[in-house]
Amino acid sequence: MDVAVLISGGGTNLQALIDACAKDDFPARIVMVISNNPDVYGLERAKAAGIETKVINHRDFENREQFDEKLDEALKQCGATLICLAGFMRILDARFVNRWKNRILNIHPSLLPAFRGLHTQERALESGVRFSGCTVHFVNPELDDGPIISQAAVAIDPDQDADQLAAKVLQLEHTIYPQALKLVAEGRIRVIGNSVRISDAKYADQTIINPIVE
Ligand code: GRF
Repeated sequence: MDVAVLISGGGTNLQALIDACAKDDFPARIVMVISNNPDVYGLERAKAAGIETKVINHRDFENREQFDEKLDEALKQCGATLICLAGFMRILDARFVNRWKNRILNIHPSLLPAFRGLHTQERALESGVRFSGCTVHFVNPELDDGPIISQAAVAIDPDQDADQLAAKVLQLEHTIYPQALKLVAEGRIRVIGNSVRISDAKYADQTIINPIVE
């Protein structure tokens, strides 16, 4: 499966996807990395892996629709049939999302549907929940919403700060994003309404739980 990865930042999730795709039997390859920000390290990661890159700077466009049109054009040109958002910090408009229905994956650093949006670990700590984690999901027009493919959870240590928690969660992101991409690329995923069925029982439980041990 030919995949385009959209980034806005350092691209550690991109790197995890690049590393996974480099494996011989991995069923997907990255054909293009697009950033809306020209000065991000993620672009260097892509270049180092020999992947074509493109900058589509949202500041060059009058509105979201025009930016999304340009994005759509670039994606079609590179032949991608799936989009992975990997730390991509722009909201995509409904028209774009509907055009790519069930063909856009996103990784979000919370156990959705809790804590959509930004500053997820700060909010998790403030709210006193016992677990944080991350979610890979298909994208629908609502922010950080859509059928969930995979989640991983980590127990919250209340003595840790948001940055420490984010670092733990980020490690889990690097594990579950390639796993989820593999499932999608192998055609093992069926979306039924708002839920996802995984056809191989071996993959059906993707949740990594890190319980509190006394
Ligand atoms: C990750 O936590 C991702 O889930 C979030 O933004 C962060 C980006 O990290 N959306 P990176 O650019 O992949 O290192």
